[in-house]
Amino acid sequence: MSMSPIGPGGPSLPQQRRIVTEIPGPASRALLERRQRSVARGLGHVLPVFVTAAGGGILVDADGNSLIDFGSGIAVTSVGNSAELVVNRVIEQVSQFTHTCFMVAPYEGYVMVCEELNRLTPGDHDKRSALFNSGAEAVENAVKIARHATGRDAVVVFDHAYHGRTNLTMAMTAKNMPYKQGFGPFASDVYRVPMAYPFRWPGGPAACAAEALDVITGLIHTQVGEQNVAAVVIEPIQGEGGFIVPPDGFLPGLAQFCADHGIVFVADEVQSGFCRTGDWFAVDHEGVVPDLVLTAKGIAGGLPLAGVTGRAELMDAVHVGGLGGTFGGNPVACAAALGAIETMAKEDLPAAARRIGDILLPRLRMLAEAYPAIGDVRGRGAMIAIELVRPGTLEPDGAAAAAVARACHAAGLLVLTCGTYGNVLRFLPPLVMSEALLSEGLSVLEDAFAALPATAH
Ligand SMILES: Cc1ncc(COP(=O)(O)O)c(C=O)c1O
Repeated sequence: MSMSPIGPGGPSLPQQRRIVTEIPGPASRALLERRQRSVARGLGHVLPVFVTAAGGGILVDADGNSLIDFGSGIAVTSVGNSAELVVNRVIEQVSQFTHTCFMVAPYEGYVMVCEELNRLTPGDHDKRSALFNSGAEAVENAVKIARHATGRDAVVVFDHAYHGRTNLTMAMTAKNMPYKQGFGPFASDVYRVPMAYPFRWPGGPAACAAEALDVITGLIHTQVGEQNVAAVVIEPIQGEGGFIVPPDGFLPGLAQFCADHGIVFVADEVQSGFCRTGDWFAVDHEGVVPDLVLTAKGIAGGLPLAGVTGRAELMDAVHVGGLGGTFGGNPVACAAALGAIETMAKEDLPAAARRIGDILLPRLRMLAEAYPAIGDVRGRGAMIAIELVRPGTLEPDGAAAAAVARACHAAGLLVLTCGTYGNVLRFLPPLVMSEALLSEGLSVLEDAFAALPATAH
């Protein structure tokens, strides 16, 4: 493979973990101090180091440490950081023009991304797409479109859902702290129903799909009224809520219920989409065809872009001028998306994600045998997680998850936590990560468990 011509980052960056100072080192500590004096406190960070270069699955910090990236900037750099085709197309585009606003003077790149979205998302019906800047904006616009097309108001969402930080998406997000605390009042006509969460379903995993569908459809009938529901919005695998994989049969059942009642079925694939789970989209796993599919994160190799894609009759129900935004579908972000999508197809990244799952899952299951604090190992493709509990119970152990994450960070492995109870460690490596680097990352994780106090085992 020819390598990207510029920068210390990109795929030519040595794919090796190398720790030369404590984490954070002196240069990062100095930057952290400046950060504290200049950046609002409300923005947290996971890893206390400042990045100066990144490529493939490696982050280099200001002190020259090279860390393994099991986070991909929260499922964004699936094609690897500064991937060659993304960089090349961005450079070409940025030197041609940077912005016109698609609503002012259109350009081909926007149309090409919409064509790709219409082609790649599930279903061979007539589709249209619209582009935005962030996942939250895609969710907001899906609700606008569904309400406009159906003439209904209600939106149904799930326990453990995460849809963003804008006012409507905060209302749709389940977890209070840190996302909602003190930020109300929230948008109305949002109704929450239980999620099919096999590990925690009272009737057990085998009964979860059927029982959850019964409960959900019953609640919608009695508390909202099917005829009032514009949209059911669901993450096919929940992300921030804890990488919750619904049991087989649940999503098809929910989609059928929506179809039976004229409800727009919206798949929020912002985190699970674009090859992450081993298919182009997580709903592909069971052949579910949503009415609207929401994309962001992995779509553009690290540049901000999001999409709403769906049935032409729904998307085109909105009057001219009813959708848009100054930056949505910016030409540089569109160029990056075309480079990222080309990389995904050329390098068969759905297969790469499945291979990552095949490497991670057996090692994590072995770890769970050794440490009963690991109550559940779950996920698909390269969207994998372990849920930590007090051994022998379902009681969440967020402190153990935080301790393991801190130990990994100190040893040069970036892992993220998630979950309503903060007790889930999630693994989202770039899909181009080599087996050697994955394996080394897993060894760091195994060492972190070995270092946990015995009471947490
Ligand atoms: C499923 C899902 N939807 C929406 C969002 C919001 O996306 P953004 O942070 O780009 O607004 C996220 C972000 O984590 C997400 O995981």
